[in-house]
Amino acid sequence: MGEVDFKSIVRANSELARIQDIDILLERILLEARKMVNADAGSIYAKQAKEEDATEADKLLIKYAQNDTLQKTLPPGQKQVYSRFYVPINEKSISGYCAFMRKIVNIPDMYDIDSSAPYSFNSSFDKLTGYKTVSSLTFPLVAEEQLLGVIQVLNKKDKDGNVIPFSGDDEIVLTNFASNATAAMQRAYLTRAMILRMVRMSELRDPAETGNHVNRVAGYAVEIYDRWAYKRNVREEEREHFRDILRIGAMLHDVGKVAISDAILKKPGRLTEEEFAVIKNHTLHGANLFEGTVSPIDRLAMDIAFTHHENWDGTGYPGWVDPVTFAPIKTDESGKPLGKKGAEIPFAGRIVAIADVFDALGSKRVYKEAWGEDQVLEEIRKMSGTKFDPELVEVFFETLPVIQSIKKLYSEGD
Ligand SMILES: [Fe+2]
Ligand SMILES: [Fe+2]
Repeated sequence: MGEVDFKSIVRANSELARIQDIDILLERILLEARKMVNADAGSIYAKQAKEEDATEADKLLIKYAQNDTLQKTLPPGQKQVYSRFYVPINEKSISGYCAFMRKIVNIPDMYDIDSSAPYSFNSSFDKLTGYKTVSSLTFPLVAEEQLLGVIQVLNKKDKDGNVIPFSGDDEIVLTNFASNATAAMQRAYLTRAMILRMVRMSELRDPAETGNHVNRVAGYAVEIYDRWAYKRNVREEEREHFRDILRIGAMLHDVGKVAISDAILKKPGRLTEEEFAVIKNHTLHGANLFEGTVSPIDRLAMDIAFTHHENWDGTGYPGWVDPVTFAPIKTDESGKPLGKKGAEIPFAGRIVAIADVFDALGSKRVYKEAWGEDQVLEEIRKMSGTKFDPELVEVFFETLPVIQSIKKLYSEGD
């Protein structure tokens, strides 16, 4: 790098502080780290804590991988799909070693690693993709003695595009960056923990509303939005901001279920019309939780909780109702509230509607078995223009490979 661009470091740090969702943040941290040292590719791993199995050692879970060279081989706007994998925290792999020793590992050539090193390079990714990994710099993300994760940047490029080794300056720049990144991560983990605590409260009521379900729905919603925004040429800063608040808002779509009684939510078999009417009110209870708040996240969470069961053709619920008093605002001749339709339904509500139904149909519920994916997709297609915004259904299908990889990512335990 020679001359360190301090301005860009300061800018990156202040922007990280603005991101609230941990997943959006990790993706951005990786991008900034790569930019700072001009790395062609890289991955970010987050440490997973020991779960029920106390004998299992801590491990790293890959969260994001980026690769400019491979990205260029894809159609514009298409995202790379990568699979979930774990790396044990031990000396055998480079990222495992970095996490284990909590020290930076700078390797000029992955295919020529010193034979005295305890780790070796796993070339399976190169073999699979045809990519040639040469230089790498792997550094730990540590805050207050706690290991949060590891970043590995690959193939530093000089100004002519040749791959060169990472320098001592790069090590200093990224060590400094890591301390700011981990501060932002700690904050985002706190936010995530708080959201999951709220989700767990509604999960006590409705066992279908699990952490995995909300993570999947939020993940799908973000991808649908992002593809839509790409097609509409939305500026990247605006895209990132909306992804950030959408991910959190979408996780809370059914939080209003905290107010519905177990007797109804956990009832196996068919509900009476009155019981179903009570369940429908979870939209209003949810909206109520955020009523009167002004932050963009709260506004969006309110829109989503309120309108994720509205239908594009106006046949959904709760329709034109005041979320505080539950009083109808616009009614048909019989006095029933009119459904919101088309663009009357907030954009985020329309997105989450597709994500939620896609996930619910593909999952087992007390009253039904999980559908096969072909059947689910056929159903989504069928409901384009009636239940769902047709433009968003189109976008959903365009981003299906990424959606399927998210489904796998959050499939443990159900
Ligand atoms: Fe719902
Ligand atoms: Fe849901």
